[in-house]
Amino acid sequence: MSLKKIILIGYMASGKSAVGRKLHEQLNYDYYDLDNYIEINYETSVENIFKTKGELYFRQIERKSLENIVTIKRNLIISLGGGTPCYFDTIDFLNSIKETKTFFLKTSVKTICERLKKSKIKRPLISHLIEETEIKEFVGKHLLERNFFYEKSEKKINTDEKTVRAVANEIIKKLA
Ligand code: S3P
Repeated sequence: MSLKKIILIGYMASGKSAVGRKLHEQLNYDYYDLDNYIEINYETSVENIFKTKGELYFRQIERKSLENIVTIKRNLIISLGGGTPCYFDTIDFLNSIKETKTFFLKTSVKTICERLKKSKIKRPLISHLIEETEIKEFVGKHLLERNFFYEKSEKKINTDEKTVRAVANEIIKKLA
């Protein structure tokens, strides 16, 4: 059987990690969370890398780490960071690899904001935003810029109002 590499793409809080873990449970493919992989390899947190070395440095090591993972010769699931496919030629690079299938987890601004309120501290791009309206405005604009890259994914899945299991099942159906 040919190798399969599932790449999960989407904005912060679109469910990439939760869906990745569920797919790992169901398919038994190796699972990599890119942020997590970076934190283990560089022995520090993503927030700390942003703070001490800046975003450009983070984007460079993020791309390098992704290249390391994607070349592993096993069935894989990789949850990217929200910005990963939007820098350099990363989305085209991923789509050009024969074994990969890129999935965009499409989530509305409303759902993203509700989830981000609870987890913004760990996310350096939004941790400075205080008011709910500020978060909404930032996410709305940012998504408009990023959608151009996200939409290049081979498959798109709406995630609003769906459970993690339902999203994972849709992905499995689209794998064949
Ligand atoms: C980022 C998203 C984060 C992390 C970093 C930058 C982004 O990952 O990679 O904070 O640019 O959207 P999650 O999407 O897992 O939160």
